[in-house]
Amino acid sequence: MADDISERHIDALLEDMTLAEKIGQLTMARGGGGTGGPELMDAQLDDVRAGRIGSILDMWGVDGVRRAQAVAVNESRLGIPLLVTLDVLHGYETIFPIPLAEAAAFDPELWERTAQAAAEEAAASDVALTFAPMLDVARDPRWGRIAESPGEDPWLGARFAEAKVRGFQRGLADASTLAATAKHLGAYGAVMAGREYNSVDISARSLHEVHLPPFAAAVRAGVAAIMPSFNDLAGVPMTANAFVLRDLVRERWGFGGVMISDFGAMAELLVHGVAADLAEAAALCLKAGVDIDMVSDTYPKGLPVALERGLVSQTLVDEAVRRVLTLKARLGLLKGKSRGSPQVSSERRLEHRALALDAARRSLVLLRNEGDVLPLSGEARRLAVIGPLAAARQEMLGPWYAAGKAEETSDVFSALQHALPEWTLVHEPGSAISGAEPDGLDAAMEAARQADMVLLCLGEGSGMSGEAASRARPGLPDCQRKLAEAVFALKKPTVAVLCAGRPLTVPWLFEKANAVLAAWFPGNAAGAAIVEVLTGAWNPSGKLPVSWPVDVGQIPVFFGRRPTGRPADPKDACTSKYIDMQVAPLFPFGHGLSYTRFAYRGMRLSSENLNAGDSLTVEVDVANEGKRDGEETAFLFFRDPLASVARPLLELRGAARIALAAGQQGTLRFHVKSEDFGFPDEQGNPCLEAGEIEILAGPSAERGALLSARIHIEA
Ligand code: GLC
Repeated sequence: MADDISERHIDALLEDMTLAEKIGQLTMARGGGGTGGPELMDAQLDDVRAGRIGSILDMWGVDGVRRAQAVAVNESRLGIPLLVTLDVLHGYETIFPIPLAEAAAFDPELWERTAQAAAEEAAASDVALTFAPMLDVARDPRWGRIAESPGEDPWLGARFAEAKVRGFQRGLADASTLAATAKHLGAYGAVMAGREYNSVDISARSLHEVHLPPFAAAVRAGVAAIMPSFNDLAGVPMTANAFVLRDLVRERWGFGGVMISDFGAMAELLVHGVAADLAEAAALCLKAGVDIDMVSDTYPKGLPVALERGLVSQTLVDEAVRRVLTLKARLGLLKGKSRGSPQVSSERRLEHRALALDAARRSLVLLRNEGDVLPLSGEARRLAVIGPLAAARQEMLGPWYAAGKAEETSDVFSALQHALPEWTLVHEPGSAISGAEPDGLDAAMEAARQADMVLLCLGEGSGMSGEAASRARPGLPDCQRKLAEAVFALKKPTVAVLCAGRPLTVPWLFEKANAVLAAWFPGNAAGAAIVEVLTGAWNPSGKLPVSWPVDVGQIPVFFGRRPTGRPADPKDACTSKYIDMQVAPLFPFGHGLSYTRFAYRGMRLSSENLNAGDSLTVEVDVANEGKRDGEETAFLFFRDPLASVARPLLELRGAARIALAAGQQGTLRFHVKSEDFGFPDEQGNPCLEAGEIEILAGPSAERGALLSARIHIEA
């Protein structure tokens, strides 16, 4: 809420504003005349002067923003500053790992720190709101936006939401913060066939149990804004979904912040076929509680007509304008000037760069390491570094890189040269990122034949990931596969680094590579972090936030599935399985190897009987039985074997890290409440049922590796 002075100021403004000026506060324009850029075009500046634009997106560079802000403050009748917005998902100038990668660190304190660093840098360029965190639960690697998500699990997504809202906003106490936007509500990660912008048709149970919890957590954490998603949900486009946006989020959850449509989504209601014209579209969106129209012209052109036709009331317009002005007041934008864009000191920027390296190293997941071929150590050898991602820099920044720069990014080959000066390192791209045939095969094979071992750096271009980047075959492009197969045929020790925005379905590679490191898109510190793991300077600690499919045919594959009446049994044909492939993923959620070995030696519960409202502490003893110090993330799951509805085989309720020296044992403590073992009823209200609950703890969602105990709930 705004403070009293601002409330009175807002009341006075609403009193004084014309309808055109009110609708202007609900209108967002895009920099560069609609293509994004460093300036607003003259016609847009005229709109700002006339009070017809209240917020802008995709303007980068302080000068242009300040010029637009000066027009709004000094040349418009009411002098209301613009709300400057941008997609700052994982960094502004300092680029951190993509969210899917950062999730692999299972470290809320890290997630909060990287968000705070991004906010400081973006606010210094007068950005006031970011369209992040993206909180869509994603279980379909065909969907390019899995890269932007915290992965497959709603509990993990909720912890990610809380940390990011804290980090970006810090209570919006000062001008070095950003208003955060929880996006894209809702169930966008469940698009049919993994196809971008497609329909979503899921049960009410899945909506409440899987897709809404991260957004509810963001609202509890005080997120300033929410963005509805492009998709329809069972035929109702989310941008006009009054049941979810108004009845559930605003009224039941008490969200009082601003809702901002996605890009052009309001006008798309005509294409969805639920509005005959912009006036009807405007009415549907306003009644659903959406406040700002992102670049679709629906509010500017449709709202006046909707009011004339009596499709909406002036009251609804005023309520929306009040929410927008309240956000501006919270951001210090109603004092007749911009926020002051506090600059980031050079020392602080160095801290951000160090943080980017720490985040990157912790996000890397060692998937396979046969024969301990890693870490690269011992006597100097001849290493052929082959693949289109070996010296790639721009790709390392991922699909949403804001003001990040390739020239400020480390690549694998350069980092190797720095780390292994005595080694003979030969680099050959061997292939482009995409294409049918590897166009540099001969040179690559010559380098490989001369080498003692090969490092393959393969994966996606950043343009193959993120928005509008769904892939029906989420593996490696043919040219890279042919390059890799040719190298494997030499039977030399071969390590593969996969840089991508999703788990890649490349079972053939995992069969032949001695070691495989999932690097995702690690940001500015990509090369340095990857080489720290390859050389053992960092003992890999990342774990998968998504199940890794064997093949696209398994998708969606995730650990929180229900048992069915015929759980997969290889000995019984008539059970839920494939006749041509395993049911289990190639690697389960939580999989991640270390250069040491951790053992789970025991688990203790503080109680075996819980009543509603009771707390439970679960202690888990973990030992480092290897020869190297390392960090282990342990997970706490539960299983409700008997309830009024079939419950998932595993539900995540905790993830905690412990650093252990070689030979050391430690104890992790998880704290949960009896309500954590409940589930939503058909209306989405939490319910807790009496009965047995199985508590499980261990290194991943691989059931066989989990310690187990039982408690009894008295509801
Ligand atoms: C895009 C994306 C959304 C983003 C917005 C502004 O279409 O769907 O995530 O925040 O437009 O760039």
